[in-house]
Amino acid sequence: MTDSYRALRLRADGESRCEIVRVSVEDLSPGDVVIAPEFSAINYKDAMAATGAAPILRVPTLIGGIDAAGSVVHSENERFTVGQPVLITGCGLSETRDGGFAERLRVPGDSLINIPPPFTARSASILGTAGFTAMLAIERLQENHVTPDTGPVLVTGASGGVGSLAILLLNRLGYSTIAMTGKPEAHEALRALGANEIREPFDLSGDPEGLAKSEIAGAIDNLGGNALPLLVRMTRPWGSVVSIGRATGNAFQGSVIPFIIRGVSILGVTSANCPMDRRRRAWGRLFETLRPEDLEPLVSDTIGLEDLPGRFLQYLEGRARGRTLVRLVRS
Ligand SMILES: NC(=O)c1ccc[n+]([C@@H]2O[C@H](COP(=O)([O-])OP(=O)(O)OC[C@H]3O[C@@H](n4cnc5c(N)ncnc54)[C@H](OP(=O)(O)O)[C@@H]3O)[C@@H](O)[C@H]2O)c1
Repeated sequence: MTDSYRALRLRADGESRCEIVRVSVEDLSPGDVVIAPEFSAINYKDAMAATGAAPILRVPTLIGGIDAAGSVVHSENERFTVGQPVLITGCGLSETRDGGFAERLRVPGDSLINIPPPFTARSASILGTAGFTAMLAIERLQENHVTPDTGPVLVTGASGGVGSLAILLLNRLGYSTIAMTGKPEAHEALRALGANEIREPFDLSGDPEGLAKSEIAGAIDNLGGNALPLLVRMTRPWGSVVSIGRATGNAFQGSVIPFIIRGVSILGVTSANCPMDRRRRAWGRLFETLRPEDLEPLVSDTIGLEDLPGRFLQYLEGRARGRTLVRLVRS
């Protein structure tokens, strides 16, 4: 009899968008390496995919989960051997191919990243897409000359996955940070991660036109919508704002004045289809900059696969904090 494994199957349409099913490795999207994921984690995009809040799936049905970390159980790729610890984020998972909310995952080896000791599948999953995206955003700031001596960096949605990891990484890299959060209960944890100042969220109904007092050298924005022009108008001359997310909206409207009077830039980041050389470099910097024990305080909960369907709504409502890990190996 063929072995079967538990997985969270998503559907692009219909009333019931996700359910736990059993699959065999032969049912999974093709690839030359099979992994036994030990952990995955929930990202905002997983919540959009599982609820249909945005059209993430590009095919009618797939196994969900944009992150996975575990060990190789079968390899037809000379770079990987059985038992090797690896991770994968994005690369089409839960968009065009089966993802990491499963006890088995089959992928092209070329999209895998090795997990170096002392990191483990657990610590790599605390990072996952959130940590990887935060590092890509910081690299974009650095490439555009936003360095610790140019001034503070403001992070919106600071209590979320990308936001918390951005605060931690910026602190470790010597930046002064301003954490913007709507959650008073997250203030202490954000200070412990290294936030130098905490601010209440913007009044998003405010006027995003013109210039405001220039206070920040850079920003990492998880919110989109009107938060983006409000950040641009408070950025110092030649500073940059990285647009990462759209938790409060896709469309934004503002004034060109900060671009032409202060030379401010808006920079983009897309983690899902990041080229492999940039991807390996960013993961290398994450593993160099952080230690596994730095990451544990970010874990808000560790849940099982069967708990996943009840967890997505809190992400869409902005109630999630830090990283919720999904344990895929049953103890
Ligand atoms: N460009 C990329 O490649 C990329 C990669 C990863 C994520 N993203 C995007 O980045 C954003 C953050 O992702 P994440 O996984 O870190 O999400 P998350 O853990 O759910 O964090 C989002 C945070 O945004 C804040 N927020 C404020 N208003 C919100 C609202 N109306 N709905 C939801 N959140 C609200 C909340 O923090 P506070 O309460 O502290 O304000 C919330 O915790 C998402 O938009 C996601 O799609 C983009």
